[in-house]
Amino acid sequence: MVTIRIDETGSPGRIAPEIYGHFSEHLGRCIYEGIFVKPDSGIPNVNGMRADVVEALKEIRVPVLRWPGGCFADEYHWKDGIGPAENRKRMVNTHWGGLVEDNSFGTHEYFELCRQLGCKTYINGNVGSGTVQEMSEWVEYMTFDGVSPMALLREANGRKEPWTVDYFGVGNENWGCGGNMTPAYYANLYRQYQTYIRRYHNASPIRKICGGPNGDDRKWTKKVLKTCFAHPHPEDAHGYMDGLSLHYYVHPGGWQNRGSATVFTEEEWYTTLEKALYMEDLIRLHGDIMDRYDPEKKIGLIVDEWGTWYEVEPGTNPGFLYQQNTMRDALVAAVTLNIFNNHCDRVKMACIAQMVNVLQAVLLTEGEKMIKTPTWHVFHMYRDHQGAQALPVQAEGVGTVGGGQIPAVQVSASRMESGEITVTAANLSMTESQTVRLTLTSGKPERVSGTLLAGEAHAHNTFDAPETVREQALAAAPDGEGVEFVLPPCSVASVRLS
Ligand code: AHR
Repeated sequence: MVTIRIDETGSPGRIAPEIYGHFSEHLGRCIYEGIFVKPDSGIPNVNGMRADVVEALKEIRVPVLRWPGGCFADEYHWKDGIGPAENRKRMVNTHWGGLVEDNSFGTHEYFELCRQLGCKTYINGNVGSGTVQEMSEWVEYMTFDGVSPMALLREANGRKEPWTVDYFGVGNENWGCGGNMTPAYYANLYRQYQTYIRRYHNASPIRKICGGPNGDDRKWTKKVLKTCFAHPHPEDAHGYMDGLSLHYYVHPGGWQNRGSATVFTEEEWYTTLEKALYMEDLIRLHGDIMDRYDPEKKIGLIVDEWGTWYEVEPGTNPGFLYQQNTMRDALVAAVTLNIFNNHCDRVKMACIAQMVNVLQAVLLTEGEKMIKTPTWHVFHMYRDHQGAQALPVQAEGVGTVGGGQIPAVQVSASRMESGEITVTAANLSMTESQTVRLTLTSGKPERVSGTLLAGEAHAHNTFDAPETVREQALAAAPDGEGVEFVLPPCSVASVRLS
């Protein structure tokens, strides 16, 4: 029996809704087909956005959407994506399959998508092959409310009112696809580029995200923070940046042997989860360095790319990164989101890669069909954590599984404004069920409800069988002192206590 004690008396902080964010890149069938369809596609849409996809995304309350990349961001020239669609310049998407990108989805379309989703905006600018002027004019185009060359251009393209840019990323993976820069070189460019991300009068503040490390690259974090964190006005402790990004993908057998999304052994199941749990070490490694500059944790660790990355589905374009999504992915999502909740004092935003049809997608589409993946269900079950106060949890009697240090059960908890408590728990064992007992440090739960996502480790949804993996009611009732329930092997539960 695993006993989970939820401490209602203290809180490490509020879980930023943005922790449940998403990432959509001009890559494969994420934007085109997955989200944005041609007027003659026959697929129901509103201003080009697939109605089924938008509806499914609203159900999980997408809080923020990062766009246009990824590697694509550092070769994207935003002026090619505005004006009449038929006049927009074509370009080669060199990173992702060498396809011709017609730029029919651009700045106006992105803001329309965010309007339909009701989410915050996170634009990623081009440092690798773009200029300071290009980046600064994009910000002017999007946010300036007055008469200026870019505001007039926006108006000529049909939009008088400025938009709100909530977050702006200054480059992407500039240690790699974003220019193969050294940390020292990028750090200086960051200082320069971010200067021109102006906050115009009447505009809401734009939070600036500095390009951070790849996985455990502490050298990058140290060098970049050393150069970029300092600010001439000491009272404004995070003047140059509001966040530092971190990218981390789970490749079960390493980059050279990523394995299949649906065919895997028990050993690979545990390797995958062990690698997913490594996210906690990464937050500590980089968090410790950030603490030296920012002990009050004013700047956020922004995990704006995370998720599983396998070999593509057989027969699909290797440059499109299309993969299936099983209960194993559900467990990766569950443990990762629990880690983010438990470290919400430092992690202020995270974006799963990617939203539709790419890597650990929450939705997959095929023509007019759409399915919700097991990962979508985890985001659905965890949605009440968004904006809630995280609650510390103490677990007793948690054994290990997989012959290593992998805990059998992993949890997080939070309290909503209504006072109701959400506990999310994952059973990482591929074969054994776990009995879990929840108690509160003060008070006893009077009402309990919950949902369960369970299935054989390889279970997944297909276009022919879209509901193989779906949420069910969790059998749990208060017994006067606490709540007891059973977590089947490879399962995720969300429990509401009030
Ligand atoms: O998400 C796919 C790619 O992974 C992104 O374009 C890049 O930033 C990362 O390497």
